[in-house]
Amino acid sequence: MSSYTSGSRLTYSEYLRLNELLELQSGEIGCEREINNDETHFIIIHQIFELWFKLVLSELRCARNLLMGTHVEESEIPKVVSHLNRVTEICRLMANQWKVMETLSPQDFLVFRDKLGTASGFESWQMRELEFLMGLKNNERDQGMDPLAHYRKLADENPVYIPGLKKLEETINEPSLDEVLQKWLKRTPIQGSFIEDDNDQQIVDDFVNKYLSAMKILNQKLLEQTSKHSSVDNNTLEERFNANLKSAEEYLRPNGSTNRSRAGLLFIEAYRDLPLLAWPRKLIDSFVELEESMVLFRTHHARMVERIIGRRVGTGGSSGVDYLDATTKYRIFKDLWGVRTILIKKSALPKINNSEMYGFSNVK
Ligand code: HEM
Repeated sequence: MSSYTSGSRLTYSEYLRLNELLELQSGEIGCEREINNDETHFIIIHQIFELWFKLVLSELRCARNLLMGTHVEESEIPKVVSHLNRVTEICRLMANQWKVMETLSPQDFLVFRDKLGTASGFESWQMRELEFLMGLKNNERDQGMDPLAHYRKLADENPVYIPGLKKLEETINEPSLDEVLQKWLKRTPIQGSFIEDDNDQQIVDDFVNKYLSAMKILNQKLLEQTSKHSSVDNNTLEERFNANLKSAEEYLRPNGSTNRSRAGLLFIEAYRDLPLLAWPRKLIDSFVELEESMVLFRTHHARMVERIIGRRVGTGGSSGVDYLDATTKYRIFKDLWGVRTILIKKSALPKINNSEMYGFSNVK
């Protein structure tokens, strides 16, 4: 007999542990008081989000583990993509779930808001864990917030937070998705050259130089065209185009030397039609979609909050909507967003070397 069953067959209710699950909406452990329908709705929605977070975390870990090795088989990339795609769909669903929350009117929320005291989504350790796992750094958070310090304080106050704190302490020391992605991108064969090849640096530098020269010529043409029709004065326009070129240089050669991860990413994005780059490109698209869906999830949360509590201080003591809006500016996979600013049209790209290496003949 399976450990799930107490009778002769596995039942729906035993498999899903429904009796236990449906007992969990009373609001507090041992709470005798009846809660009203609005509050039940409030609790169920939070619990559903936390369950989704649980799944998101395990999907992100699977994706991270697959991408973590020093050599990742090409056949593994579709698996990473499918884990990321599942997370993206969950985030999209969660972004829409706020609509159900919005059926709670501001007045109806006030009926039980005081009871929440300082309890807030701020204390959701799974949310913090998924940020750690994706690679959000403290200095990139609003006002350099330190979730671990916050969690240590919470765990000191109440042991209910100790397992969450342990999880966070473990996760912060694991490689993040952003880190493993950058390492993977660094190994991209660029112009047919592999990172371990003797003359790799020279080939990659040459690619970057040619790319920047092509961009310069294009920018000059665009500047001439735009200045004929734009309402913006020529000096301002010139400054803008020059700044774009300068940012491309800084992106590809921060501190003067080529960043191979970014060069690899640019190579994949620029020559995205090459068959061998099809899955790497899909992988990058999946990361971008994932982050976009995460940003939309945060944005819709902020709009829902604005609708229900206006601009008042949050139960966790933050500035409320202003804080939540600040979190919509977070970008973890910055390089993937950054490369979009420096892409140029196909016809202006430097000629590809060793194109046969990226063609169908070489796909196993
Ligand atoms: C009436 C419904 C809700 C209101 C008014 C609300 C309000 C807020 C506010 C004001 C904050 C900022 C922190 C603070 O000072 O408290 C916050 C954070 C948060 N809320 Fe909500 N929330 C609601 C529902 C939800 C639900 C259903 C979830 C699902 C788990 C959720 C998850 C979170 C999370 C994870 C944070 C932390 C965000 C971050 O720091 O990036 N909230 N919420």
